[in-house]
Amino acid sequence: MGFAVPRDGVGYLAPEGFLPELLRELGPVERVLGRLALCSAPPAQHMDDHPATAFPATVFPAWAQNIWHDLRVIPFTSIAQAATALKGLGPRWALYDEHLPRRGRARLIQQRLRGPSSRPLVFGDPLPKLPLGSWTLLDDSTLLASPRCSSPFVHGEALFAEDKTGPPSRAYLKLWEVFTLLDQRPDPGQLCLDLGSSPGGWTWVLHKLGALVISVDKAPLDPRLAGLPGIIFRPESAFAQAPQAFGPVDWLFSDVVCYPERLLALVRRWLEAGTVRNMVCTIKFQGETDFQVVDQFRSIPHSRLLHLAHNKHELTWIWRKNSGDRIQDLFS
Ligand SMILES: C[S@@+](CC[C@H](N)C(=O)[O-])C[C@H]1O[C@@H](n2cnc3c(N)ncnc32)[C@H](O)[C@@H]1O
Repeated sequence: MGFAVPRDGVGYLAPEGFLPELLRELGPVERVLGRLALCSAPPAQHMDDHPATAFPATVFPAWAQNIWHDLRVIPFTSIAQAATALKGLGPRWALYDEHLPRRGRARLIQQRLRGPSSRPLVFGDPLPKLPLGSWTLLDDSTLLASPRCSSPFVHGEALFAEDKTGPPSRAYLKLWEVFTLLDQRPDPGQLCLDLGSSPGGWTWVLHKLGALVISVDKAPLDPRLAGLPGIIFRPESAFAQAPQAFGPVDWLFSDVVCYPERLLALVRRWLEAGTVRNMVCTIKFQGETDFQVVDQFRSIPHSRLLHLAHNKHELTWIWRKNSGDRIQDLFS
């Protein structure tokens, strides 16, 4: 086995293609299995050293799509014994086996467990109440298990029953994922500003929720959305929108394609104005990941950086004025 994880060790699962980003955030780790990085120290130990408003990358790495808490290393001699051990730790289990050269044994164990639902989630339906643990094999007679994972989805992959006809782009899935993880969404009648909105996937989601949407893009909005009651389209630059011109804004969204520093400046302008209550912004990287800007976003109080399952080479930054530090507890 050659690997000792303390009972409260932590595993961080990178999104596919982003293990280098995750390892850069984590620093030295004990071991890497596929795209799962194993660390011996629990986040809480790091947290004591830091003020609540500036959590370090190692506590909530942005590039971890799922966090495996309370790691257990369990030796076993039979498939039945392994399954019994897992059942004793939690009710539902997802097998992570990408890194295994032979997967047969692991799959025989998984067959004896209650697994995740294979049905995609319908947006708006509640998440399953039973916790979903994750496990894998370290070798043929040792399993590694986490009964408590940060994501309610298998390996952090949010799987929705898609709407193939309504939204004009697949970007709507990012907002469905954010609202599902937050368990919060704009209420009917709330004012939403959607920057970089075309062709209109996000505007479509917000309009469906009954929000009032000011949709801003230099490119046109899909004709099916343009002109609908409750949607005002402005064919302008996102960066030309002065906060003072709007009054209170319940939610500000940005999916603008721009350099991350430009988005950071925009966000700071809105924070200084103090007129917005919630922000959800996609940070889009061109070429190399800009870790310096990532850290600047991370250090903004009451915010959280995530790599959503539907993000590409992007991160999603979420800020909530009235969240206190609870936003840090979300998805952790
Ligand atoms: C990824 S797309 C947005 C997709 C959109 N959220 C959706 O759900 O369909 C990025 C958008 O940013 C817009 N954009 C780029 N620069 C902009 C600017 N300065 N002001 C406003 N929009 C801009 C582009 O025109 C493009 O429509």
